[in-house]
Amino acid sequence: MSENSRSVAVIGAGTIGLSWATVFAAHGLQVRLTDPRPDVRQVLEESVRQFARTLPGGPRDAEELLGRIEVAPDLEAAVSGVDVVQENGPERIELKRELFARVEEAAPAEALILSSTSGLMPTELSRDMRTPGRLLVGHPFNPPHVLPLVEIVPGERTEQWAVDAAVEFYRGLGKKPVVLHREVPGFVANRLQSAIFKECVHLVLEGVVDVAELDEVVTESIGLRWSTQGPFESMHLGGGPGGLRHLFEHLGPGMSRRWKSLGQPELTPETIETISGQVEERFRDRRYDEMTEARDRAQLAVLAAREAARGEGDG
Ligand SMILES: NC(=O)c1ccc[n+]([C@@H]2O[C@H](COP(=O)([O-])OP(=O)(O)OC[C@H]3O[C@@H](n4cnc5c(N)ncnc54)[C@H](O)[C@@H]3O)[C@@H](O)[C@H]2O)c1
Repeated sequence: MSENSRSVAVIGAGTIGLSWATVFAAHGLQVRLTDPRPDVRQVLEESVRQFARTLPGGPRDAEELLGRIEVAPDLEAAVSGVDVVQENGPERIELKRELFARVEEAAPAEALILSSTSGLMPTELSRDMRTPGRLLVGHPFNPPHVLPLVEIVPGERTEQWAVDAAVEFYRGLGKKPVVLHREVPGFVANRLQSAIFKECVHLVLEGVVDVAELDEVVTESIGLRWSTQGPFESMHLGGGPGGLRHLFEHLGPGMSRRWKSLGQPELTPETIETISGQVEERFRDRRYDEMTEARDRAQLAVLAAREAARGEGDG
């Protein structure tokens, strides 16, 4: 954690903001949270109590974390005097621009301004700012209190000191920041997820597999593989001793034909009905908080196993 980062404003107390608030408090930061939702205090308490059970490094005392998170009466009060602002409002560019205009007025001039946006371009987000040099995207992968990745996406006018400060800030939280060389809609992780999810929807619509079978195919193969070796490393090994070059020569023509045959489903009302219907039927007896906690425990176990395996390999 940067020596300079002691207090953080969290704008937006939804799925991502509440998770970030827990992470920040768990690392000793003073947190100020702002959201116009009337139940903000209640969701804060419920979420921190849940997330504190599944933090990397072991469970934490939720009451201690809640003691570091203050609900501010408005955005101006939240950002006043803080070192860092993490914005997690709704994914609407006009609204985010309005929030950043208010942040710019009320936060200290040197405060770092980070947006959790899943896909909006930082240059667009900072379009109306007087000090765009300090705004950049710090995009977590859900849930931020468990998964390590934060994509750092500078805009055209982001200054280098802000990129460096963001990297240092997230590293201090135990995260794995990856700085993109340039902004692109959806960044990297969500573009990949979109490409694969599009084909998932296509395969289910075509009746090749149902949603449960599709999920099983992924968790028993690509999911497991990619949690330890990325796509390029995996393919390099898949080519045998000749590596990726041999794989391209040997299997490339088939791969290339397959690229052309990938589906192009549209998110029509019928598609939404078919896919959502199958998923809802499958999980109809499961509660959201029970499912998210089970997910977090499983992912923490994978992270711990991966760390242990890497440690053994290094030794
Ligand atoms: N859900 C994900 O998987 C995910 C992952 C990574 C990043 N993100 C990004 O994080 C951001 C938040 O997404 P989410 O899923 O938490 O959404 P969400 O709908 O759960 O939460 C958004 C919150 O913003 C609040 N809000 C509305 N107006 C506000 C205002 N004027 N000031 C402060 N708060 C306000 C809402 O009341 C709500 O609680 C989005 O930009 C999204 O793209 C989401």
